[in-house]
Amino acid sequence: MKYNIKITKTQNSHLSDVDFDNIPFGRVFSDHMFVAEYRKGKWEDLRIEPFGRFTIHPAAMALHYGQAIFEGMKASKSFEGKPLFFRPEMHARRFNNSARRMCMPEVPEELFLQALDQLVAIDSDWIPPQEGSALYIRPYMFANDEFIGVKPSENYRFIIFTGPVGPYYPKPVSLIAEQEYVRCAVEGGTGEAKVAGNYAASLLPARKANEKGYDQVMWLDANEFRYVQEVGTMNIFFVIDGTVVTPSLNGGILPGITRDSILKIFREKGYKVEERNISIDELMDAFDAGKLQEAFGTGTAAVVAHVSKIAIGDKVMELQPVEKRKLGEMAKKEIDGLRAGKVKDTHGWIVPVKHLELAKA
Ligand SMILES: Cc1ncc(COP(=O)(O)O)c(C=O)c1O
Repeated sequence: MKYNIKITKTQNSHLSDVDFDNIPFGRVFSDHMFVAEYRKGKWEDLRIEPFGRFTIHPAAMALHYGQAIFEGMKASKSFEGKPLFFRPEMHARRFNNSARRMCMPEVPEELFLQALDQLVAIDSDWIPPQEGSALYIRPYMFANDEFIGVKPSENYRFIIFTGPVGPYYPKPVSLIAEQEYVRCAVEGGTGEAKVAGNYAASLLPARKANEKGYDQVMWLDANEFRYVQEVGTMNIFFVIDGTVVTPSLNGGILPGITRDSILKIFREKGYKVEERNISIDELMDAFDAGKLQEAFGTGTAAVVAHVSKIAIGDKVMELQPVEKRKLGEMAKKEIDGLRAGKVKDTHGWIVPVKHLELAKA
């Protein structure tokens, strides 16, 4: 089905103000945004309009009861300058999984993908051409009923905006296992959904980790504080005695699209890969036996971020220098190569931006 999206272009592009060689993350926004309203059981008023502020009612339900979900994805340019998405339909599906969990209406996958394509086509000049840079894309939805009282809202707003981001050169991150707090991300909770509240609940433990000198929290399961879940905004992988191991998806972990891609890449290349429970005792034993060879986080922002050290209680495990780690680097190169159009896409993960004529009209 083809959706009718009304397009109003800005008369006042600020593209020429942007220094693509020096872009602060999360602070620069492209010229346009997509907006749709959910009213009386259907999505309507589909529009692309100049990026800018909008007003909401003080009683807008999302502000009080937290029905708010989002996605984070990227468009990049191939080495030939062609704009590309990476697995956009996976993001659309995950968005709808999040919507179902939060009792919010789904956005038809076709609508999500058409809105995304047209918006990014119009602002395709905002995709930085530099290798490793990208256009970060933020689809989100929030409850917009003007009502006080706990119930699912009847009105929602779905928005997509974008902004260029520079190359991400993550320095290795230090992690501390969290043995006091849990997020809402427990089995049966909201961990496998990308909901705003999960991130709010992570902030205090993250601040305490920073005060102890660590970059990020390594979340453990909420029942026993024993099994590793994920890290900040990344899934986590370990290489133990040559085997790639990552926590299995158990309902408490966000099913990362980078995680899924990297698992497929390792399997295809013939590495031994296991998705299973990983206890902190196993990690400490592997470290003591000299078998904990690598640890890295995976996510859209960094692709792969190596872990420098992990603290579990009083035990601090310093991992081997990044130069000696092969698998994390290999996975990053492969995904960066796909995004730059330099590695052949045998999976259908790379989707070209289609309606580029909209940029000129
Ligand atoms: C909690 C959490 N885990 C994992 C990820 C990695 O997911 P993806 O690879 O889809 O970016 C993210 C980022 O979206 C996240 O916020």
